[in-house]
Amino acid sequence: MRAGGGEPAAAGLPAGLTVRPFRLGDLPEIMRLEKEAFGRHAFDAATFLYYATVERQGFLVCELEGEFCGYVVARRSDLRRTLGEIPSIAISPALRRQGIGRLLLEWALAHLVGRGVEVVRLQVAVENTAAIALYESAGFSRRRRLEDYYGRDEDAVEMEKQLAER
Ligand SMILES: CC(C)(COP(=O)(O)OP(=O)(O)OC[C@H]1O[C@@H](n2cnc3c(N)ncnc32)[C@H](O)[C@@H]1OP(=O)(O)O)[C@@H](O)C(=O)NCCC(=O)NCCS
Repeated sequence: MRAGGGEPAAAGLPAGLTVRPFRLGDLPEIMRLEKEAFGRHAFDAATFLYYATVERQGFLVCELEGEFCGYVVARRSDLRRTLGEIPSIAISPALRRQGIGRLLLEWALAHLVGRGVEVVRLQVAVENTAAIALYESAGFSRRRRLEDYYGRDEDAVEMEKQLAER
């Protein structure tokens, strides 16, 4: 992870890819992708606006040739200043498996390092093998299983990555 050492590397990615902080005009595309990816568990617009208000530099949008192709939300915990969270990440379905998710995740982690975060935690549905593989490939490990986290019989795995020595 190149967190803290400038912009994350972009080797092997599609050309014309850019990452920037969220703008209000992104909201419709984010909501479309969020609903497609998470169905009834999708965040609503108010939640995204909240994240944009509290930590806009951690709410990143990716564009390919100027077209929206994904987003990530990263923030420092309100309760513990050395703890970071990644509440959501999604890439447009047609552009998955090209390294864009990993790139956005690296940018999110770099942002958290800049905020003084030492450990990042996130929750992911146990059956979401793509996301779990992404997080493991980025150095996250499974911390514990959270039963009924998303609803009855809908468990999550909590994953964790250490960004700095404690
Ligand atoms: C999870 C998600 C963000 C991954 O984005 P992506 O751009 O496709 O991921 P990348 O191409 O950067 O993949 C990086 C690594 O993650 C793993 N990975 C990603 N998708 C995978 C899949 N479908 N199956 C297995 N491994 C996968 C691989 O290790 C991959 O590296 P490799 O391609 O060199 O093998 C994307 O599938 C998505 O938007 N899913 C719906 C939303 C979601 O579930 N978000 C996570 C909520 S916790």
